[in-house]
Amino acid sequence: MTKRILQWWQSGIIYHIYPRSFQDGNGDGIGDLTGIISRLDYLSHTLGIDALWLSPIYPSPMADFGYDIADYRDVDPIFGALDTFDLLVREAHQRNLKVIIDYVPNHTSDQHKWFGESRSSRTAAKRNWYVWADPQEDGTPPNNWLSVFGGPAWSWDAATEQYYLHSFLSSMPDLNWRNPAVQHAMFEVVRFWLDRGVDGLRIDTAHYIMKDHAMRDNPSNQIVHTTFHKSFGAYDTQLHLYDKGDADVHNVFRDLRHLLDSYGQEQPRIALGEIHIFDVPTWASYYGEQLDELHMPCNFGLLNTPWQAQAIRQAVDTLESTIPACAWPNYVLGNHDEHRIATRIGAAQARVGMLLLLTLRGTPTLYYGDELGMENVPIAPEHERDPWGIHMPGLGLGRDPERTPMQWEASPHAGFCHAEVAPWLPVAANATTMNVATQLEDPQSFLSLTRKLIDLRRSSLALSGGSYRALESTSTNCFVYMRETADERWIVALNTGTQDQILNVTCAGDASIILSTYLDRQEHVDLATLALRGNEGGLIQLT
Ligand code: GLC
Repeated sequence: MTKRILQWWQSGIIYHIYPRSFQDGNGDGIGDLTGIISRLDYLSHTLGIDALWLSPIYPSPMADFGYDIADYRDVDPIFGALDTFDLLVREAHQRNLKVIIDYVPNHTSDQHKWFGESRSSRTAAKRNWYVWADPQEDGTPPNNWLSVFGGPAWSWDAATEQYYLHSFLSSMPDLNWRNPAVQHAMFEVVRFWLDRGVDGLRIDTAHYIMKDHAMRDNPSNQIVHTTFHKSFGAYDTQLHLYDKGDADVHNVFRDLRHLLDSYGQEQPRIALGEIHIFDVPTWASYYGEQLDELHMPCNFGLLNTPWQAQAIRQAVDTLESTIPACAWPNYVLGNHDEHRIATRIGAAQARVGMLLLLTLRGTPTLYYGDELGMENVPIAPEHERDPWGIHMPGLGLGRDPERTPMQWEASPHAGFCHAEVAPWLPVAANATTMNVATQLEDPQSFLSLTRKLIDLRRSSLALSGGSYRALESTSTNCFVYMRETADERWIVALNTGTQDQILNVTCAGDASIILSTYLDRQEHVDLATLALRGNEGGLIQLT
C-alpha cells in the first residue's frame, strides 16, 4: 500500500500502431505517418492513451513488412520521410503523447548495405558483422538450427562458399552482436532516434541477438505441448537452447540501459523487449538483477493462458511473485503477431479482457482496434501477404487477419483510405457497424467501455499504481482481485464463463459497482452475494 510516484511508462497506457493499417494519408491504400498524425487527437483526447508504439517505419523491401530493414536511419517512402517523422514526434509531444519506435537489432534486410559489404568477400571489412560459418564435411549447414519462418536457419552463399545465419527469412540475415563494431553501430542507431526525440524502443526479438558461442546443435524437444500458444510446426521439434537467449545478452542490455539513462531521468527513455520466453523466472531476468536492463520485457503470459478465471489468476499471481521487487509488470492481450483477442476469446469475453487489461497492476499495451473489439478478418490463401503464413501453410500462422485496416467509420474502406483505392489488406465486412464513429454514438459500445475504463484508470491512483492481490471467492469461474492505495480500494471481479454466478467475496466494506462490462449497472452491492451475469466483469469501489 505504499504510495510511489510512477513514471510515465508505468502509469501510462501504450497504444500499438501497425503503421500500414492505421490511416492512409497519401492515397496509396497503405497507412503512413501523415495518416497517424491526422489521428493523434483521437488517441490523446478521444481515447486518452499516453504513448504510441509504431511497428517499423524504416526503408525496407517489405519481405516481412518492415521487420526487414535496409536502412536504420531513415523512413520508408511508403510511410513518409524523416521530416514527417519529426513532425509526428512534435505533434505527439504537444499532446503529451510519448513515441516508442520498433528497434530491430537481431537482423537486417539482405538489402542493407552492411550485408552487401559483408557478403562481398570472406575478407571484407564487414564480413564479421553477420554470422558466417563453414559447411559441415558433407556440405550441410553448420548446425541444426531452424528458422522461425520455416526451413533451416542457414542459407548458402555460393560466391563466398559459406553459410549465413537467419533466424527468420533468408532475406533477413542475423547481425553478429558478438562483434563490438556491430554493437557500436547499433547503439549509434539508438542515439540517432533518441536525438530526434523518441521516448522509447520496443526491441524486436530482443533475446535472439546472442546465440551460443560454440553454436551447438539444439537438442530435440520431447515435451508434449502443454501450452495454448500457437504451434510453430517443425520449429517446435527443438528445444531452442542455443540459437537465442545466451546469457551474454544481458551485457548488451546493461549497456543499452546505460545509454538510455544517459538521456536523463526526468522523462526517462525506455526499452521494452519482445521476449517470448514462457518460463517466468528466465523471462523476468531481462529486467536485470539490479533492474539495470530492460524497463519491461513484454509480458505475453496471458496470450499463453487458457481463458479461464483460475488460469488467468495463476498467471498474474506467478508474475507478481516472480518479478524482482520494484520491477514494473506489463500485460499484452493483442499485437500484430497474435490473432485478435475478440476472435480468440469471443466478443463478449473481449470486454472482460479489456477490464482485466486496464485494471491489472502494470502497464497495458493496447493493440490498435482492440478498443473497438475488432476481429480477425479472414484472408483467402491467394490473397495472403504475410511470409510466415505463406511459408508454413496449414498451421494458422499467417498474421494478415489481425493486421487489417483500422475501422474508423461506416464509409467505404471504413475511412482508412480513399474510396477509389484498394486498401493493402481488406477491411472487415463488419466495419459498417463496428467502427469508431458508430461506437462513439453508442453509450454501451465496446469503445465506450474502453474510454470509461481509461478514464477511471487515469483518475485513480489505486487503479494505475496501487497494489494488487487476488481475493478468494466462491466461484471458480471468477477471478477477483483488489487494487488499493492507502486512500482507495477497488475490487475487480471477472466472470470468464457464460453462466451467471453468485459469489461470496471475502472482503469488508461498503461496495458499489461503478462499471459493468455491459455498461448498464451502477449500484450498491453486497460482496457476500455478488451477482455477476455470464460474460460480465465488474469494477467495484469500496468505501
Ligand atoms: C518479431 C515481430 C514480428 C516479426 C519478427 C521478425 O517477432 O513482432 O512481426 O516478423 O520479429 O522480425
